[in-house]
Amino acid sequence: MTEENNTAPLEGKFIVLAVTGGIASYKSIELARLLTLDGAQVQPILTQNARAFVQALPFQILTGHMPIEAMFPIEGGRHPGDMPHISLTDRSDLIVLAPATANIIAKFARGMGDDFVSTLLLSAKAPVIVAPAMNPRMWANPAVRENVHLLRSHGHLVMEPGAGRMARAEEGQGRGRMPEPSEILTEVRRLLLPEPDLAGLRLLVSAGPTREKWDAVRFLSNRSSGIMGFALASVACLRGAEVTLVSGPVSLPDPPGVRTIRVESTDEMRTAALNAWKNMDAAIMAAAVADFRPANPISGKQKKESGSASIELERTPDIIAEMGHKKGNRVLVGFAAETDNLKENALDKLRRKQLDLIVANAVSGEDDAMGSETSRAHLFDASGAEEAFPLLEKHALAEFILDRVAKMWEKNR
Ligand code: CTP
Repeated sequence: MTEENNTAPLEGKFIVLAVTGGIASYKSIELARLLTLDGAQVQPILTQNARAFVQALPFQILTGHMPIEAMFPIEGGRHPGDMPHISLTDRSDLIVLAPATANIIAKFARGMGDDFVSTLLLSAKAPVIVAPAMNPRMWANPAVRENVHLLRSHGHLVMEPGAGRMARAEEGQGRGRMPEPSEILTEVRRLLLPEPDLAGLRLLVSAGPTREKWDAVRFLSNRSSGIMGFALASVACLRGAEVTLVSGPVSLPDPPGVRTIRVESTDEMRTAALNAWKNMDAAIMAAAVADFRPANPISGKQKKESGSASIELERTPDIIAEMGHKKGNRVLVGFAAETDNLKENALDKLRRKQLDLIVANAVSGEDDAMGSETSRAHLFDASGAEEAFPLLEKHALAEFILDRVAKMWEKNR
């Protein structure tokens, strides 16, 4: 792990996270965590109404900064600096308003300053991201529409709220949910890192298991969760790549900004991957593809009385090997899931499948990577050189793998 790694892209950035009062305030705790993990210094501000929904403590613990909760210093507490709203705006690279209620949107749009957040916004020099959260009827209200329009015309980034179920079922399915913390992080990175290192890279990622049908209700598959492939796809997207993700059946939601294609069988994954590969600069195939499938699948449900107790299997096509044969000067990265002889098997796969890099990890014992949030990986390149990592969150490992891809892609250009 060298200094040039990219695990803290927001290092040195100072972000004010202003939280106003709504049921979505709890999601801002996760946002505070993501921004801090990304290396940013985060100063939280909680309005009085926000305090009705969330406590200051989680924000303080996650960011290391005491949340500001009032306009004027209160007994026993001090704001950082004499005129906190001015000193904060002088220091900040970005202000994130999440969740933003209809009330703060109105105050911000019309230039009111009757509490700390609205006063801070009045003196803001840094760009502002607004992540609205409100009842869909409020979001559709003409006055709110007008205020949002005003803010956009002033150059602020007002995100679209998400659609879907609201906190209370009777509020229906309209648009009004706060954008997910990961989506807000994408916007933060876009604003603060104007030239991400993977901009222009067309990247294919595969993830999850494949499922091979035996009869109408049964299949062969494996324990893969898709976490590694999804982490690679979302991190690559945050770093500016144009990502196509082909995933087998997993329970993870589509990563924001990523073109996600859901498949089931190895054949379906092969068709989707080979099709996409024609227009890609690189591919990272993290899927745990089934190597065998039932040779004679049954269309109905196999009855136990009449059926045979064994299933005849046949080999599935090796997708990445086919891609390797049509590789040209593109970058191709594979994974090796091993229980024994990690290095030997990984290097053998790398050569047989004509890969540029292989990520080998154990799938048994204490460090079993399959289904886990973490992995202890070894990277081998075509020269046989090895880079070994400690046990890492898969998102962190994704950053390192993408650092290597970025270098190889640069070299090939
Ligand atoms: N892979 C593939 N198509 C297959 C099997 C594997 O594209 N039918 C890819 C995986 O996505 C991974 C790499 O090949 O990037 C290695 O997968 P792995 O299961 O470790 O190796 P196998 O080639 O299947 O060999 P074995 O099961 O014998 O270890």
